[in-house]
Amino acid sequence: MKTILTVVGARPQFIKIAPVSGELRKHFKEVLVHTGQHFDHGMSDVFFEELEIPTPDYSLGISGGKHGEMTAQMLEKIEEKIFEVKPDMLLLYGDTNSTFAAAIAASKLHIPIAHIESGPRTYDRKQPEEVNRVFTDYVSQIRFCPTYQSVENLKIENIDQDVFHVGDVMYDCALYARDKASKDSKILEELQLESQGYVVTTVHRAEHTSSPDILKKVIGYLQEQEELVVFPMHPRTVKAVEAYGINTDGLTIIPPLGYIDMTWLVANAKLVITDSGGLPKEAYFHKVPCITIGEYSPWPETIEAGWNRLWSEQNYISPRRDVPDYGEGNSAQKIVEILKAYLK
Ligand code: UD1
Repeated sequence: MKTILTVVGARPQFIKIAPVSGELRKHFKEVLVHTGQHFDHGMSDVFFEELEIPTPDYSLGISGGKHGEMTAQMLEKIEEKIFEVKPDMLLLYGDTNSTFAAAIAASKLHIPIAHIESGPRTYDRKQPEEVNRVFTDYVSQIRFCPTYQSVENLKIENIDQDVFHVGDVMYDCALYARDKASKDSKILEELQLESQGYVVTTVHRAEHTSSPDILKKVIGYLQEQEELVVFPMHPRTVKAVEAYGINTDGLTIIPPLGYIDMTWLVANAKLVITDSGGLPKEAYFHKVPCITIGEYSPWPETIEAGWNRLWSEQNYISPRRDVPDYGEGNSAQKIVEILKAYLK
């Protein structure tokens, strides 16, 4: 049986491995490495528990610090694991520093890389995520694209070999989570919320949390909303709000939520306001409109289809329509079929 080494480290990646690992383990030996980038119970363990993700084989315990420092420590430890496990392939997700470090390690050791969520671009190289995703796409052997635009973006960069549009594994997760949440989640009762009677917001990106002026502007924008604003706050943002002494009066701030409760909170919201990479798509999956805090979205199809708009725009650009790109909720199966053919 061939061995696939999967490396994850941050919250959205735990969610994405849930459907893929289940399918993958029917045909391959998967060895799971958790870098430790996200480590709080509410940012990490809760996802493994709720989504029944296999326990990581190795936890590297690396988090925080400057980007170079964090990436360098991960690179060293992941290289060690590659020597130890001798995988036939590395499987990487998205655009985090954990993905980037693993991509450097594998490419130097000539281990093929399969990259899930390949091809989105914001064309802003100041964003760490953009650098991470461009590099990982370049050194991967197989690229799994969530959207048609992602395939086009890679073509522009002369990457057209082994590029597959498979839809979005997040959609697979969202369908599963909504079903489970409709039976199990008590989050609306706990927070005394009425369906459609509130806005959900998340803010954590470095470009919004690293300057007091920008973070104040973002918080001010949220405070202007007419509806009640529920704000599960990322640890980075908690630290920044405290350090800058920013007033958050009027916002309902709660700790980060698990995926099942977050899904239910989003699915019942009137509106989502976020700077997250993934949340605008999840809002769309649950047919909730979204406002993106930022100058661009890596998911332009959500904007073109009238479900998402940048906070600088007053109106959605078109009447709402469906986005066919994300598939039918069977992306994980498609990915595993392609990996089977590649590694046979
Ligand atoms: C990272 C990813 C981003 C992804 C996000 C999801 C990169 C460059 N960015 O950003 O693409 O959207 O995860 O959440 O990889 N911290 C805690 N507890 C935790 C996790 C983090 O206290 O469980 C602290 C860290 O120590 C650090 C800060 O929060 O000081 C930011 O964490 P970091 O992993 O650097 O980046 P994120 O903003 O989470």
